[in-house]
Amino acid sequence: MTASPPLHGSGGGDPAGEGPPVPAAGPRPAGQFTGRRVLVTGAAQGIGLAVAERFLRAGALVTIADRDAGRLARAAAWLAPTHPVVAAIPADVTDPEAVGAMIRAAAGPGRVLHVLVNNVGWATESSFADTTLGEWNAQLAACLTSTFLCCREALPYLRAAGPACIVNIGSVNGLAAYGHEAYSAAKAGVVSLTQNLAAGLGPEGIRANVVAPGTILTPAWDDRAAADAGLLDRLRANYPLRTLGTPQDVAAACAFLASDDARWITGVVLPVDGGLGCGNEAMRASRAIGPASTAEAAGGQARS
Ligand SMILES: NC(=O)c1ccc[n+]([C@@H]2O[C@H](COP(=O)([O-])OP(=O)(O)OC[C@H]3O[C@@H](n4cnc5c(N)ncnc54)[C@H](O)[C@@H]3O)[C@@H](O)[C@H]2O)c1
Repeated sequence: MTASPPLHGSGGGDPAGEGPPVPAAGPRPAGQFTGRRVLVTGAAQGIGLAVAERFLRAGALVTIADRDAGRLARAAAWLAPTHPVVAAIPADVTDPEAVGAMIRAAAGPGRVLHVLVNNVGWATESSFADTTLGEWNAQLAACLTSTFLCCREALPYLRAAGPACIVNIGSVNGLAAYGHEAYSAAKAGVVSLTQNLAAGLGPEGIRANVVAPGTILTPAWDDRAAADAGLLDRLRANYPLRTLGTPQDVAAACAFLASDDARWITGVVLPVDGGLGCGNEAMRASRAIGPASTAEAAGGQARS
């Protein structure tokens, strides 16, 4: 059993953030998801583990899956004292056979699945020019093909559960240019797939939405932050809220979209990004667009 939750990267939240703190995810009404079967992929650490914990706290019957069997077992052990999972299934979500077995296990004897959270995804550090075809294909497989496989295999069980919903973890990279071309293209594909599923499955009472995180402090950042001491500070400076996100911030958005409060929300992308996507702060500050203010035109001091 791990001594501390393997949710965060070495930052353990974002204590270095100088802006207003992102409110911690508070306790939710007990039983919000009581009796509902939930599957979270890539749940051995980081965002997936926080999502699983969030649904467990709200009474769901949660199955966690991950390709790293050892880490998955440690995550299940960490959750067990307060919120035991229904099952922890070692599975590579790019493998169709493993996906089928994972979905059947999560659906259980009742053969229903109320919530599917497709959380697996990762990016390589290669520049576009250096990206090999293998790297390109691997990132598409991890982010997009896995989502296709899981949604397709889960469909009969989601239909049996109806109403049911899918929450796909995208990224701000799927919405605009922030580098990581292969990963970004894959995440943009997740948005399109989700919109199509929402439109196609809506008449059956199955919703599908995307949560698009900005920089979230998870173990995925540990190596990069260790290799570059200033990295997280440079990233933080891009966010209007001047903090980086936590796995719990993403988990809260997933829980909302999966809840009855969101019963009329489908096909949307919900950024959880500290304001990153709301505009270009440097350009706004430079006043590069728009007419000069009256004060400026009169040679007076511009208001800051
Ligand atoms: N952390 C961020 O800054 C950030 C930002 C935007 C989007 N996201 C997205 O959020 C999701 C989770 O990110 P994270 O930072 O928690 O990642 P993470 O690397 O900390 O955890 C991902 C988990 O997925 C598992 N996994 C990887 N490939 C798998 C596969 N093929 N089959 C099964 N399990 C697999 C890993 O073993 C790991 O436990 C990803 O989709 C990622 O793209 C993360």
